[in-house]
Amino acid sequence: MHCIRRHCRLNHHRRTVWIPPLLCVVAFLIYFIYFCPDYSNPLELVEGSDHVPMCGQYKTATLRTPWFEKRFNGSIEPLLVRKDQVIPDHVLQWWLKLQGVNNASRMPWILEQMFKVVPSGNPYEEQYKRPCRHCAVVGNSGNLKGSHYGKKIDSHNLIFRMNGARISGFEADVGSRTTHHFMYPESAVHLPHGVHLVLVPFKLQDLRWITSALSTGEIKYTYKRVKQYIQADKDKVLIFNPAFFKYIHDNWTTHHGKYPSTGMLALFFALHICDEISVFGFGADRNGNWHHYWENNRFAGAFRWTGVHNADFESKLIESLAKEGRLKFYI
Ligand code: C5P
Repeated sequence: MHCIRRHCRLNHHRRTVWIPPLLCVVAFLIYFIYFCPDYSNPLELVEGSDHVPMCGQYKTATLRTPWFEKRFNGSIEPLLVRKDQVIPDHVLQWWLKLQGVNNASRMPWILEQMFKVVPSGNPYEEQYKRPCRHCAVVGNSGNLKGSHYGKKIDSHNLIFRMNGARISGFEADVGSRTTHHFMYPESAVHLPHGVHLVLVPFKLQDLRWITSALSTGEIKYTYKRVKQYIQADKDKVLIFNPAFFKYIHDNWTTHHGKYPSTGMLALFFALHICDEISVFGFGADRNGNWHHYWENNRFAGAFRWTGVHNADFESKLIESLAKEGRLKFYI
């Protein structure tokens, strides 16, 4: 190297002068990433580890737009959790009329009997200091066929399915795990141990059915033949709150359709208890058909043609929630 001594010292000085500020930046980044609780990755799930991220903190900090704010009501309990839980009278009247019944006088007795068989208490009460909930809500749309979403669905820690959802033979497209299965007596299926049966009650008799199907088997018929006994983990049964049902109809589907579809009920349940939501199996397939993924006949069981739910409105609502950043919508 041909440099005069003074020149060399100057060059060396120039080369080293940026080191202290760089060290400061690195130190700050290390502090920022590892020690600052508000900014550590809030959605990271570390199961079985001592470090449990605090998702609740993240949830309350999420930005709310006026569109969302106008509709969202966090004070309404998604689940019915106690026999003496107050269901406001206007909710009760609406809910009973769904199936043409007016008399709620037996409700306290029915709830008392039910909570002798299914657990009371809310497993989702804790909003702070709890592991994060990454949820996949899996509808039954034919658009899942050939999707190869199976692995992606299974990567969530909570997986919601509903009604007659099938897994065997469809794993590559729909995944193989389920943590919550939403159903009503007429759509009921047997469940493996450890899965939450989430009863969506459309009528008083549905509350009596779950009690019966898990104990005496006295109910065999509602408006059609139903399962007399259901194989399910009694300790994991959850009951959807009629007040939450009405809230979705009033605030979200805004009276489009007679009442929201089971898929909508599962999706808004997720919106209230999950930190991150992915939605699969909702809407028409790419040819505009509304059948289920296990059906070859595109008109069979077509969700849209029941006329009870407003399929187009429900699809648009999911799109709006996706645009708001509330969920990821896989089609
Ligand atoms: O038909 P079923 O109610 O069992 O399907 C479960 C849910 O999946 C529906 O309630 C609806 O929300 C959604 N679905 C859909 N498009 C279809 C079929 C079902 O969005 N073609």
